[in-house]
Amino acid sequence: MTLVATVRYLNEGTEIEVPLGTTILQAAQRAGAPEGYACGGVCACSTCHVHVKKGLDLLSEIEDEENDILDKAFDVRATSRLGCQAKVERPGVIEIEITRESYDAYFNEHPDAPRPAEGPAAKR
Ligand code: FES
Repeated sequence: MTLVATVRYLNEGTEIEVPLGTTILQAAQRAGAPEGYACGGVCACSTCHVHVKKGLDLLSEIEDEENDILDKAFDVRATSRLGCQAKVERPGVIEIEITRESYDAYFNEHPDAPRPAEGPAAKR
């Protein structure tokens, strides 16, 4: 039996079940949630920055490299993670808020994508 976790994207009101080992960014891509990834997911840009509202303890430990890149992000909190580095390691429910920085990066890279009515980028 494959263990799964539910990753919920609060801005979008969408969620997806993923097998353990999946990153928050991979889950966003499968769920169709607009999370930026300018460097392609190699921990070099901070555009995949999210706030983990629930289930932080279900994710992999934060590494020094991730902390270094998070230092360059905006609105960094104790619950901040880089979506491309944070892996789901334990089953349960994880709630994610995609940051405005990440939203903007996504829509800059995908100008034809329909912008949702809700979410941090829509509240300008
Ligand atoms: S996608 Fe660039 S740091 Fe995560």
